[in-house]
Amino acid sequence: MFEPDPIRPDVLPEPARYAVFGHPVAHSKSPFIHRRFAADNHKAIDYRAIDAAPEDFGVALARFAADGGRGASVTLPLKGIAAGLCRTLGEAARRTGAVNTLTRRDDAWHGDNTDGAGLVADIAERWRLDLRGRRVLVLGAGGAVAGVLFDLLEAGVDHVTIVNRTPERADALADRVAEPARVSTAYWQDLGTLGAFDFVLNGTSAARHGQRLELPVSIVAPRALAYDMNYGEAAIDFLAWARATGFEHVHDGLGMLVEQAAIAFRIWHGVRPDTEPVYRELVAGGG
Ligand code: ATR
Repeated sequence: MFEPDPIRPDVLPEPARYAVFGHPVAHSKSPFIHRRFAADNHKAIDYRAIDAAPEDFGVALARFAADGGRGASVTLPLKGIAAGLCRTLGEAARRTGAVNTLTRRDDAWHGDNTDGAGLVADIAERWRLDLRGRRVLVLGAGGAVAGVLFDLLEAGVDHVTIVNRTPERADALADRVAEPARVSTAYWQDLGTLGAFDFVLNGTSAARHGQRLELPVSIVAPRALAYDMNYGEAAIDFLAWARATGFEHVHDGLGMLVEQAAIAFRIWHGVRPDTEPVYRELVAGGG
């Protein structure tokens, strides 16, 4: 796995350093996922979880770089701050204003956002569902939704309606996309009048706060997909509602989590890992 040092062949080089930054971060599955990808691809990495409050993140990231950090995943609530700490940004990070993947390049950070591509890969490749032409209802207008909206449009969905508890945030997000023919907003209380959707995406954090979403059954079209970007306990309510309401396809965000990590892994190591074994282990309760 290691190339010996030609001058000191008895000394093995240290594994390259990677980390996930978040707040809280103790329950992050990213260390498990990245260590598994690395083992499967014979890469020696040291991947840790580092808790950093938003006000401490800049200093913590600088220390990580000084200690030889080569790349980092970024999770809630640091994705927006991460974008401001980068010298260069990839296309998805620039348009979303959020970074979930940091890569050390020329003594500075380069930021990417792999969340949207991860969502599309999960739906299109793992679940083999065609996104093209779908009428989409997006619930929520926070960071999670902003991170995937452009990729959904690029994947060929027909139209996206954004509904958010605070309508101004939905309007601001739609304005940012600036594709009025394909993205519109509506009030939550009007959901019952909007007709049926082929794809309902839950991007709210309601369940994480122990709150339920009020949704009318009239939004379900035949053969529709319900997808919760949350996973685990935070996805139980919405997915149970979706099954009971007649959605044909019902999925949580665990696959998206693994796919966004795989795209980050490819950015760092140049290989696209096989995601299926890790996904299956996570579904079985591993990680
Ligand atoms: P994230 O980065 O996870 O998206 P966020 O930016 O705080 O976090 O956004 C959370 C989203 O969940 C928002 O769209 C929020 O609605 P508001 O903009 O009105 O706050 C939504 N949300 C949270 N609790 C909710 C609830 N009980 N009902 C409906 N939407 C809720």
